[in-house]
Amino acid sequence: MEVSGKVVIVTGASSGMGEATARLAHEQGARLVLAARRSDRLSVLAGELPGALVVRTDVTSAPAVDELRDRALAEFGTIDVLVNNAGQGLHVPLLEVDQGDFQAVWELNVMAPLVLMQAVVPAMAAQGSGVIVNVSSGTSLRVIPGLGAYAATKSALNMLSQVARVELGPKGIVVSLVYPGITDTEFHLTLRAGRFSGGAAGIPAASPKLVAETILDAIRTGQAEVGVPHAAPN
Ligand SMILES: NC(=O)c1ccc[n+]([C@@H]2O[C@H](COP(=O)([O-])OP(=O)(O)OC[C@H]3O[C@@H](n4cnc5c(N)ncnc54)[C@H](OP(=O)(O)O)[C@@H]3O)[C@@H](O)[C@H]2O)c1
Repeated sequence: MEVSGKVVIVTGASSGMGEATARLAHEQGARLVLAARRSDRLSVLAGELPGALVVRTDVTSAPAVDELRDRALAEFGTIDVLVNNAGQGLHVPLLEVDQGDFQAVWELNVMAPLVLMQAVVPAMAAQGSGVIVNVSSGTSLRVIPGLGAYAATKSALNMLSQVARVELGPKGIVVSLVYPGITDTEFHLTLRAGRFSGGAAGIPAASPKLVAETILDAIRTGQAEVGVPHAAPN
């Protein structure tokens, strides 16, 4: 799908990859719906992206997700693309994983993307087309000590996405996965617990813009799974 003229919801648009994706999609003519909790940041971004709609959203709240969907439809009449990007890391060895932390990251990285898909699919199905991109992580494709809990949430997201692709295909909805590696965002400063221990030696962090280009490529091509080139896993 070409995003020009299309209504694109981006979660986690207040920073990092989500912000970069919103900027690039806007450049390509999309009509943006910007979702995150920090509405001050979203408002500043919307000031630079004329026509963008800001909806302050905690994606772990089902009523807030319904409101996001309803406000997008009220403003634009349709939803063409959902980029499930909001997420958080939990970078501690398994024996140190706090159950509350794991539950919170599970709610954000797994449950919220599912609830968001459930929220937008009826509108997409009614028009017979739609694209959903779920932002996973290269960590879900490898065994990395210290990242097991986070990688488990992204592995669960991978399976939800792969099954959704098959289930929703007959409705004209394409579901894709993007696997970023280490990317230069606020992610490592806002981990639920633990700390960033550095990437694979010699492999530089990718820019959020590179990930945004990959996400826009996934929307355009409808490929099932897309890695971000030249990036270490994280
Ligand atoms: N950076 C990396 O190295 C890396 C690598 C692989 C995968 N990823 C994945 O890439 C995605 C984007 O991360 P990033 O690197 O761009 O990190 P980031 O700059 O920290 O952005 C995370 C975004 O998620 C939003 N968010 C967090 N909790 C939320 C909630 N409850 N409701 C709504 N929005 C929420 C944040 O907005 P608010 O705080 O304003 O709500 C923020 O906009 C995540 O899914 C992450 O797991 C990152």
